[in-house]
Amino acid sequence: MNLDEVICFCQNVTSGMIKDAVDSGAATLEEVQEKTGAGTVCGSCIDNVRRLVEQFAAERASR
Ligand code: FES
Repeated sequence: MNLDEVICFCQNVTSGMIKDAVDSGAATLEEVQEKTGAGTVCGSCIDNVRRLVEQFAAERASR
């Protein structure tokens, strides 16, 4: 996965920033929104953000 890929254009949040938020404790879409601002403006990226949060949370859980 490309961690430099921008997921949320409104807030310029990359998948790596979402991963960092999950790795530093965020477990839900809402917590990642709070930490990164991703998905808090137009909302069009929400499905992608949620998918990544779930994926990174699962990866964290399996480490
Ligand atoms: S692209 Fe993420 S809130 Fe607009």
